[in-house]
Amino acid sequence: MNILVINGPNLNLLGEREIESYGTETLEELMMWLENCPECIEHNFKFYQSNHEGDIIDFIHDERHWAQGIIINPAAFTHYSYAIRDAIKAVNISTIEVHLTDIKNRDKFRKISVIADVCTNQICGLGKHSYLEAIKLLINH
Ligand code: DQA
Repeated sequence: MNILVINGPNLNLLGEREIESYGTETLEELMMWLENCPECIEHNFKFYQSNHEGDIIDFIHDERHWAQGIIINPAAFTHYSYAIRDAIKAVNISTIEVHLTDIKNRDKFRKISVIADVCTNQICGLGKHSYLEAIKLLINH
């Protein structure tokens, strides 16, 4: 399966950003761990991170004929980007929203996801395992 793994704003600072919430591993370490998990070995991945809404949308558009599944941590865009929501809906590719932390049990504004209802699932609060669980769901869908 061809899978896009997309990470949104500020996730490039994993490992130094709010380590009490997000841990000490860098995004690169996390993505390498994911790609090398036994469940992932036989699948193809493209990893992408951007701090810019339009770049994330362009990436989804550009990869729409290659991708058979999308895992996205939209980070703060989760809570207000109707444009990313529309992009996910437009390409009609099975998509899973993931978060490292449990967005339901943090600040009030984080409880809202404008992305969730165009995704097949939302997995949050499992740290890097949120991504792995999402891949398992995509593969077995
Ligand atoms: C996050 C949760 C978001 O609310 C936050 O803006 C992030 C990271 C997470 O993975 O837990 O940047 O998506």
